[in-house]
Amino acid sequence: MTRRKFLSLMTCALFANIFSACGAENLSEKNSKEVHDMSKKILTEPVALNSGFDMPRIGLGTWKLTGIVAEECVYHALKVGYRLIDTARYYRNEANVGNGIRRAIAEGIATREEIFVTTKILPDNHKTPDIAIDDSLNAFGFDYIDLMLIHQPGRWDEETYHALERGVQAGKIRSIGISNYYTPEHFDSIRNIARIVPAVVQNENHPFYQNRELQAYLKNFGTVVESWYPFGGRGNTHKIFGNETIQQLAEKYFKTPAQIVLRWQLQENYIVIPGSSNKAHIEENFDVFDFRLSENDMSLMRALNKNKRFENW
Ligand SMILES: NC(=O)c1ccc[n+]([C@@H]2O[C@H](COP(=O)([O-])OP(=O)(O)OC[C@H]3O[C@@H](n4cnc5c(N)ncnc54)[C@H](OP(=O)(O)O)[C@@H]3O)[C@@H](O)[C@H]2O)c1
Repeated sequence: MTRRKFLSLMTCALFANIFSACGAENLSEKNSKEVHDMSKKILTEPVALNSGFDMPRIGLGTWKLTGIVAEECVYHALKVGYRLIDTARYYRNEANVGNGIRRAIAEGIATREEIFVTTKILPDNHKTPDIAIDDSLNAFGFDYIDLMLIHQPGRWDEETYHALERGVQAGKIRSIGISNYYTPEHFDSIRNIARIVPAVVQNENHPFYQNRELQAYLKNFGTVVESWYPFGGRGNTHKIFGNETIQQLAEKYFKTPAQIVLRWQLQENYIVIPGSSNKAHIEENFDVFDFRLSENDMSLMRALNKNKRFENW
């Protein structure tokens, strides 16, 4: 066991003890503060990926953010405390994301090492996937990418995945994974040909589509699930934010529906990347570490699952 793993297990054990000793629902003010501090510590600690690298649990999604808006939002998120930024070649904003990150680094907000940048390779890059990796690096202006995913399944996944593995060997990429693979069988189609087991599967995931079966299966390989569309995506957010249970929980915890959804995902051990072009929302979405949903309320959230995705890719 690595030192990192040992420390993290010890922290979890301590956390569990605090909860069993206090009874999570009826805490004295002092104990409540201790629990919140411990909860914050655990959920703000990064996830240890099977690649040996650490990944923050909450990040900014940048789909639909372009130009100066993308740069400003990325910069603002880093200023607020985010250390994970999600983009893709398809979003056509890697250069703007790179600008926002470099600006934050230049101002001493964070170092490159502290920031975790994810991008995705397009399935139609199968003929020149090695060049696509260099294109992303050049667009960012970085000498490595923290995580690169196959954006969607395609006919040439195997070739593309091996190109990502070559990227790791060349020191251009630290961790690799896949996106939009929803069943154990589909995940295995890559795992079975992989020399490097995927570190992350990034999938649509929200209260109405929870797919906890896949998360349980991936545990066997140390692979973690990252949720896209935590709020259902643009045009659908009212369906999630307007849900009666989520509204009631928001009232109960003095939080917003967005914060309830994010907190539920974090407590379920999902990495989550809410997208936003609004500075107040970016701040709100990061303000999820001063409360904890009780086990009963987690069950209420789990009961919202309809196994229904908003998208079909
Ligand atoms: N791998 C894939 O195939 C894939 C597919 C889709 C998305 N993604 C990634 O996942 C990220 C998240 O998905 P998404 O951005 O499409 O959808 P999302 O995070 O579910 O929802 C974004 C929407 O929520 C609104 N919003 C954000 N915070 C809010 C708050 N606190 N209160 C009220 N509204 C709020 C945003 O509006 P404002 O801009 O006004 O805040 C925007 O309309 C993407 O940005 C992208 O990085 C990956």
